[in-house]
Formats: sequence, structure tokens, C-alpha cells
Amino acid sequence: MGERDFLSIADLATGELVDLLDGADKAKARPSSWSSKIKGNQVALIFEKPSTRTRVSFEVAVTSMGGHAIILRSDELQLGRGETVEDTGRVLTRYVDALVVRTFEQERLEKLASASNVPVINALSDRSHPCQALADMQTIREKKGGLEGLSLAYVGDGNNVAHSLLLAGSKLGMHVRVATPAGYAPRSDIVLMSQQNAIDSGGSVTITEVVAEAISGADVLYTDVWASMGQESESQARTEVFERFQLNSDALALADDEVIVMHCLPAHRGEEISRDVMDGSRSVVWDQAENRLHTQKALLAWLLG
Ligand code: CP
Repeated sequence: MGERDFLSIADLATGELVDLLDGADKAKARPSSWSSKIKGNQVALIFEKPSTRTRVSFEVAVTSMGGHAIILRSDELQLGRGETVEDTGRVLTRYVDALVVRTFEQERLEKLASASNVPVINALSDRSHPCQALADMQTIREKKGGLEGLSLAYVGDGNNVAHSLLLAGSKLGMHVRVATPAGYAPRSDIVLMSQQNAIDSGGSVTITEVVAEAISGADVLYTDVWASMGQESESQARTEVFERFQLNSDALALADDEVIVMHCLPAHRGEEISRDVMDGSRSVVWDQAENRLHTQKALLAWLLG
């Protein structure tokens, strides 16, 4: 078998996913014992879109485990002048041990991965955000003591974050309920894969346009921006369509008393989440953001170990 890539949560067997979460807990508990985990490895971080959390947490993860991170924006690469992703992958493979890539279409990532002989990690594509889902699962497990049987309600746009949550939660025995406006549901192929996962795990998948159906009694409430990167021109139209899909105190009142509130960030207070809920006592968003670092350490150590 060739090198492993991490392009989607669907690439992982359930046991591998659990092992990664266990590794992330260890990396968080004893960071000093991870200081040489990828010693001497060169990791290129290619960002074709902006990033705060993913870029910085990957750079810190690489350097704090003894590797060297090379940050590359596409406008600094010949990629920005039309060199193909395949040629870029073939060349970088000759220099580095892994590629972390934030890009546009999932297919672009897949082309790069197929031309590369080193592990390629999806740092966000239009279809999925698997590194985010790893941190989300670590955070829920840490706050709730487990995952199986918990209800996770995602409210908002059926986007890349929703896709990766569906895939991860359904593999881990969660009841994943997604509420979106009509026309903004998650992709049907992702929903189908998640339903198949749920059959094996004892979880379930609900896709609805009724917010209360998703959030009633939920253990976890989750949202993301209504207009993702590249959809800025749709912002105003989306604000009207998504108005009823805000996580606010009314939504919180329908959830379980011990509910935790999550957001992958960046957040737009007053749009997808109200200020009081974002900054309130049920919010775990800062621990969630921190866990990007620990899960990505576990991922890099697994792929490069
Ligand atoms: N959640 C997330 O991916 O954040 P960034 O866009 O800042 O990397």
C-alpha cells in the first residue's frame, strides 16, 4: 500500500478515528513527550484561501514535534500562475515529507494527492473539513465523557463542516441531526455514506428543515457561518434565507440542560449565533479551537510515524 492521505473522514476506519482521538488526548496531556514525534520531517502547508486556526495550529504542531513547516500561499507559488496542481504535487514530493493543503474543489485536492508520493492532508476544501471534525470529536468526548448515543444538532448551511461532522459523528455512534433551509441541505452522497455509517455504529442521521426537530433535547449544538469563503457575494441573500436558523437563547432552551455550544470559527455574532450564546456559559468554542492543535499533532504523527 502507498502513502496514506487524509482527504476526508470517510478515508478512516472507525478504529483509526478513535486511535487519532486517543492520540490527540495524549498530545494534549503530555506535549513534552511529543517533542520529537516527527523529528526531521519537512511539511509544506499550501493555503489557497485565508486561515487563522488551521494554518497556525498546523505550523505549531509541526514545529513543536521536531519538524519544519514551510508555509506557502498560492500567490507565492507558480500555482498562482497556472502551473497544474499535479505538477506542483510531483515537484514538492521531491522535497517534503507531507503536504497540508487548503484549496477550492475536493477534486483539485484529489488530483494533487494522486500525483504526490507523500501524505496529503485536507486543510479544507469546498466539500469537507476533516481536520475540523477531528477537533470537534475530541472536544465533545472531552466535555461529555464519550460520543456514542449523544445527539449532535448542526443548524445552518449544509456545508463542508456539516459534511465532515456527519461522517465523523455517524461513524462514532452519534445521532447527527442537521437542520438547514430548503436548498441548503448537505450533499446526498455524504448523507448516504453517513446513514450507512450509522447502521454499523448504532447512531442515526436526520436531515430536516425544521430547527426544533434537530435541536430538541440535543447534547451538542453546532453552527457555522451562513456564507463560506468564496460566497461573500451571496451574504445578504443568505442572511434572509437563514434568519430562522440562528443559534440563540430560544434554541438553547430547547436543547438538553447540559448542552454544549460549538462553532468552528470564525463566528459572526448576531448572524448564525447570538452574542449571548457565543460568549455564554455553554459555549466551548475556545477549547474546540485549541483542540485543532492536538488532533493535528496526532494526525501528523500517524501519517509520518
Ligand atoms: N475553523 C477553521 O478552519 O478556521 P480557519 O479558517 O481560521 O483556519
